[in-house]
Amino acid sequence: MIVIASANGKVGIRESMRVLKAGGSAVDAVEAGIRLVESNPDDHSVGYSGLPNLLGDVELDASIMDGLTLQAGSVGAVKNYEHAISLARKVMEELPHVMLVGAGAERFAKELGFPEKDLLTPEAEAIYRQIFEKKIPDVYAHRMKYLDSVKKWAHVAADPERPNETTNFIALDDKGNLATGVSTSGWSWKYPGRLGDSPIIGAGNYADNRYGAAACTGRGEMAIRLCTAHAVVTYMRMGMSIVEAGTEATRDLAYLVDPYFGGVNIIAMDPNGNHCAFSNTKDTFYVYMTGTMDDYIETPRVFVDTGDEGRKL
Ligand code: GLY
Repeated sequence: MIVIASANGKVGIRESMRVLKAGGSAVDAVEAGIRLVESNPDDHSVGYSGLPNLLGDVELDASIMDGLTLQAGSVGAVKNYEHAISLARKVMEELPHVMLVGAGAERFAKELGFPEKDLLTPEAEAIYRQIFEKKIPDVYAHRMKYLDSVKKWAHVAADPERPNETTNFIALDDKGNLATGVSTSGWSWKYPGRLGDSPIIGAGNYADNRYGAAACTGRGEMAIRLCTAHAVVTYMRMGMSIVEAGTEATRDLAYLVDPYFGGVNIIAMDPNGNHCAFSNTKDTFYVYMTGTMDDYIETPRVFVDTGDEGRKL
């Protein structure tokens, strides 16, 4: 048994492994680990204390996938519920659907008795005010919620460095089942309702016991356009090793024409528990922990140079 996660998954990976050792499934382990990241007030990219959208509201996205059944659940643009990953799991298990967004997802959370919580912490709000209001003239920044048109400000506020966090976990349980989970507050200062790759099955998250699993963090628009998580698994299906598959999927990013070209990071695992991670940003890390280890190890991702700007036409 083994769990891997993005570096900010350190706060949850021990719990993931505890769940696996206690006989829990890969899906249980992924959910348990991500819940702790979602509750971490020091992490401004996931769950409680995530950075808000253009209007100052925290909106969460998450998804989960079971490699045994290929069942998946996801939620997007959810306000006022901390554990988007658990809500995504409930969509997978209790509805005939894969994805719920916005008011429908919040209604479902309420129906299930999930506790409501104000997700915007004073610290996250202070970051929003300091950085966001520097980019937007005061006269607009303070009235954003009341303006009829805010699309111009979504461009002004956009910061390619900001979607780089998010958390993802992949677990392999003792029955040989894989599961993936991803949770995020998304690209800070985003246009309300914006979804990144995290809730999109195939873009930010994919698991198939037969071939492997992959999950992404970083600039979601890029992973959506290339179906990056599914691409890694498909490349493994075609016979590539995990290192070849992740390298190829990262290299694909260089073909994107994108004025906000940015960092995309991948974690991946094959059905035997071999794992690796990739990034087009230098000096990034991920964590892993096996059933025989006392604690996790942090280790570098493979850097794949895509240049900094994407393809020019
Ligand atoms: N990868 C997270 C996001 O783009 O929202």
